[in-house]
Formats: sequence, structure tokens, C-alpha cells
Amino acid sequence: MSSLLLRLDPYLFHSASLSNVANHFEEINSKGFEPCEIISIDDFIDDESSTKTGFIKSQFFDLNDTCNLDQVSLTAYKAMRKLDDDQVKTCSTSRFFEFAGFEGHSLLLSDLREKFQGEEVGISQSGNFIYPANAGYMGWHTNWVPSESPVRIYAVYVPIGGRSFFRYVNEEGDMVTDWDEQGWNIRAFQCGGDHRRLWHCVYSDGTMRFSCGYSVFGIQMSDLSHFELK
Ligand SMILES: [Fe+2]
Repeated sequence: MSSLLLRLDPYLFHSASLSNVANHFEEINSKGFEPCEIISIDDFIDDESSTKTGFIKSQFFDLNDTCNLDQVSLTAYKAMRKLDDDQVKTCSTSRFFEFAGFEGHSLLLSDLREKFQGEEVGISQSGNFIYPANAGYMGWHTNWVPSESPVRIYAVYVPIGGRSFFRYVNEEGDMVTDWDEQGWNIRAFQCGGDHRRLWHCVYSDGTMRFSCGYSVFGIQMSDLSHFELK
């Protein structure tokens, strides 16, 4: 059985794309985190060719939320496990910004489309987030979709290593905390098929965390194994 989660070599993408996007993120990081435009997330999803720039306030974002590690704890996971697929495919408790209109996302997207070709393969952007440095998080969820081979790839950039993590539950049912290292962290995981989905959550405290997500259909996790980080 293939893995539910793989850490991939950043050079799955072109190095020029990675440095272009990283430079932009470093610029945002050095200026501080101030959303320059707030629009409805529904407008963004309906308009793929949007030229809007800036940040989108997530529909889930709540400035008054009391955010702490409890949201990404084992206890929180056990509570979420009692819910059905539709209730847990997205997260209802979180603290992050979604952002749009950034050409770097298309750069990474076209790199992936170059790597994974074929009539059956479909790749689209899925989730572009900035987690603030003061306790950003996304609570437990699965990203579940009703398909045999949906793979999610996340390219995550952090200016400061060891201050943010991707936490998940492995095949054995153990909670694993996978800390981000400074620079790029590429993860791929399974989020569909019967019982083949990765429960996960995200946390950042002490660094901004920039996360570019891509939804991939028509490949299996095993197709990614030769890109695995050694
Ligand atoms: Fe997710």
C-alpha cells in the first residue's frame, strides 16, 4: 500500500520558479502582514481568470478566535473523527488568510503540469494561504473528495524554520508532527478513495507560513515516490 503522505524534493519544481515565489514571500514577510485587499472568497472561486491582487480574507477567518494549540491537539482530532466525510473535508476552525492574483502560483502550477502529463491527469490550484506569525492554524480535516486517485500537493515556504508544522495521523493511527524547515517544504498526500485520506492540521507561531496547494487527479501517490525527499 502506498504512503498517505510523502515529503518531496523541492526540485519537483523549477528552481527559477521556487526562487521567484520565495522572493515574493520574503518581501511580504519583511513588510509585515497587512491584507491590502479584502474580497469575498466566493468571488475568487467563481472567477479563475481574476486579476485581483492582494489577500482575501478567508470565510473562516475570525479575528476574535481564541487560537491556541488545543485546536490541533489529539483531543480535537478525536472529536472530529466522530463527524462524517462531508463535515470534515474542510476545516471550520482556523486562522489564516487566503490570497489570490499572485502569478507565482501559476508558475508552480505550470511546473507541475509539465511533470505530470496525460489525458487522465488534471491539476488545479487548491488553497493558497498565509498563516500569520502569531498563532495561525487550520484545525483537523481531511480534504476528502469522492474519487479514487486525488492527490494534494502543497508547496510551503517558511522564512523561519522550526516554528510551524503540518500535523497528521499516520497509517498506524499515531499523531505525527512534521515541522517545517526554513525555505521550501513540499508535501503530497492522499485525500480520497475509501478510507484513504489523511487527517491533518497546520499550525504556525513565530513565522509566517506561505502555502500553495494543488489538487491532482489521475495520478497515484506511488507515482510520486521517485520525487521523495531523501
Ligand atoms: Fe488540508
